[in-house]
This record gives sequence, C-alpha cells and structure tokens, in this order.
Amino acid sequence: MKTFKIAALAGDGIGPEVMREAIKVLRVAQKKFGFTLNITEAPVGWAGIDAAGKALPDATLDLCKKSDSILFGSVGLPDRDPTIPKEDRPERAALLRIRKEFGLFANLRPVRLPKALAHACPLRPERQGEGIDIMVVRELTGGMYFGQPKKTESIDGGHRAVDTMVYTTPEIERIAHVAFRTAQLRRKKVTSIDKANVLENGVLWRDVVTRVGKNYPDVTLEHMFVDNGAMQLMLRPTQFDVMVCENMFGDILSDEAAALAGSLGMLPSASLGSTSGETTFGFYEPAGGTAPDIAGKNLANPIAQILSTALMLRHSLKLNDAAAAIEAAVGKAIEAGNRTGDIFSASETGATKVGTTQMGDAIAAAI
Ligand code: IPM
Ligand code: MG
Repeated sequence: MKTFKIAALAGDGIGPEVMREAIKVLRVAQKKFGFTLNITEAPVGWAGIDAAGKALPDATLDLCKKSDSILFGSVGLPDRDPTIPKEDRPERAALLRIRKEFGLFANLRPVRLPKALAHACPLRPERQGEGIDIMVVRELTGGMYFGQPKKTESIDGGHRAVDTMVYTTPEIERIAHVAFRTAQLRRKKVTSIDKANVLENGVLWRDVVTRVGKNYPDVTLEHMFVDNGAMQLMLRPTQFDVMVCENMFGDILSDEAAALAGSLGMLPSASLGSTSGETTFGFYEPAGGTAPDIAGKNLANPIAQILSTALMLRHSLKLNDAAAAIEAAVGKAIEAGNRTGDIFSASETGATKVGTTQMGDAIAAAI
C-alpha cells in the first residue's frame, strides 16, 4: 500500500477547525482508495510562538523536512502582541520562511464558481457567462516580498522605507513554464500580467514570458497590464483561463478573483517547488486567512482547506482518482444545499445553513 508522510500545521484562527474537517475527509478517502497517510500535527504561527517561542518552531520545520508534503491552515492574528517585531511575526517568520526554505516558487490558485453558487458571486448573472474557471499562477519566492534591500531607516524628520522588486530571467522562465503547462491541461490560454509600461521588471517579465511561450505553440499567449487585468476580472472574467503573475500582483489579483467564486472560503492553493524524479514537494493551504472574528464558533467554511487536500493528493502524491473524488464530493455537498454562512443567501430555495463540522460531514459522506 502506498504510504505518505504528511505534516499538518493548522496554525491560528479558524485554522484548527477547518484542518479537522480536512483530515476527516482525507481519512475517508484513504480508506476508499487504499493508501495510507501518516499525518503528524505540529504548531505554527502564534500557536508556535505559544508552544515553543517561535512562529516556526525547529521541531515543526524538521517535521516538514521529513514529510512528503505540508498541509497548512493559516497564520497571523493582527491584534496579537504588537511588541513582537515584524520579522518574527507569523506571516514572515513562518509562511514566507517556509515558501523560501522549500523553494516553493509556483503558487496555483484555482478559482471556480460552481453553477449552484451563482447567487454568491458579486457579478450580475450575464457577466458570469457559462461559469467562471480561472487558474491564477502566482510566482511566490521573488519580487517585492523577498527583494533586498528591504528596510526602514530614520532620516531627518521621519523614516524611509524600502522594498525592492527584483526578478531574474531564470525565475521568470520557470514560472512561465508552469503556466504554459497548466494551460495545456485546460483551455490553452495564458494571460501574462505585468506593468511593462512603468517597471523595468515588467519589461523583462514580458520578454521572458514571450520567449518561453514559443515552446508552447498550442497555447495562446496574451499580455495585460495589471491595472487593466484587475478591471477585466470584474468586467469579463470568462475571458481568462490561466493568469500568470509576479508575486505581489498575484497576491492582489488572486483575492479579487476569489471574490468571484463566491467566497475566499472556497479557494484552495498549491505551492510547488521543483520536481525531482517522481516527487513534487508541495505546500497546500486555503488562500483565505485566519478570520479571527469567526474562529472557534463552527462558522468557518472548510471547503478551501478540503479542496487543498485534493490538490495535495494530485500534485504531490499523484493520487488523481482520490483527488477527483474529493472535488466531486465538495460539488455534491454544495448541490445538496449545504451552505456555510459565507455562501448562504436566505433567498435561495433548498439551501440550508450549516456549520463547519456539518459541511465536513456532508463532504466526507459524499465520497
Ligand atoms: C497570501 C497571503 C500572504 C501573502 C500573507 C498572509 C503574508 O495574503 O497567501 O495570499 O501575502 O502572500
Ligand atoms: Mg493574499
């Protein structure tokens, strides 16, 4: 029997309760499809600071290194302890550190609006066309998030803050290949996002993506400035298949695109490093945050976390059938009318408001 080692880092806020549902669903899938997951849970984020004094405790990092992939919840509670320096807070010290440490340069964020959730989309029905289905491919280890220098210094009368946006040819090439290969398995169109009318980075991005695109004659490539891309997502989202973006633009546009899918609580993500032989190490997390306002109240939507497990089974563990079964089960639970608060509308007939655990149960039962 195929056996895999998974590090489960639930983190803060709604992380633990949605992780519980994801593990519940994985347990059902492993029984049905005949594989074994050795899942070890470990603290990260504020939970790491509370348990071991660090957002990414050494033992947690070691566990990740010994695992086949990481299933992650979410980290960061903006209101907690403002005296802890920003470099030591969970966003940078855990999340960005893991991305860099494991070379997770390719972030895939699939945005899909199921027909049954058309009411949850903020766009009028005529703008939703036959349905929205976009894959945001975000570069995750470069650009302004990591560029040096990055600092705040005192100057007369105030401060001066510097972030550096930097990309090299190989960094753009490898993410472009991921985007084109992803498009080959979909509707064969890549929209490359940049700001080539203003930024040096944008000019290089456009040149390199164009050159890489020559290797994929079956894929249509178009370029779009990021401001226009933000607008087009609202006006005509159905024009997009794969959008490839640098780190910061991808961060912003993927939240915007997620809103189209009804709720940030529906959006999973995969962060992948390079493939070595058969295996691709990956990091799987909901794209939404810790949602401290609803944490611990059985209100959070576990679907993003559950769909993240499907991405893990597909991309890292190569268990395609089990991945598809989880995705189908999510579809069935939605079609049956199960709605957490974020996707519930009182005017929808046949919809029932459910809590986090009931949604997890419905999905587990549908596998
Ligand atoms: C995301 C998040 C993170 C990011 C934050 C929490 C650091 O917004 O994964 O999109 O900016 O990358
Ligand atoms: Mg973000």
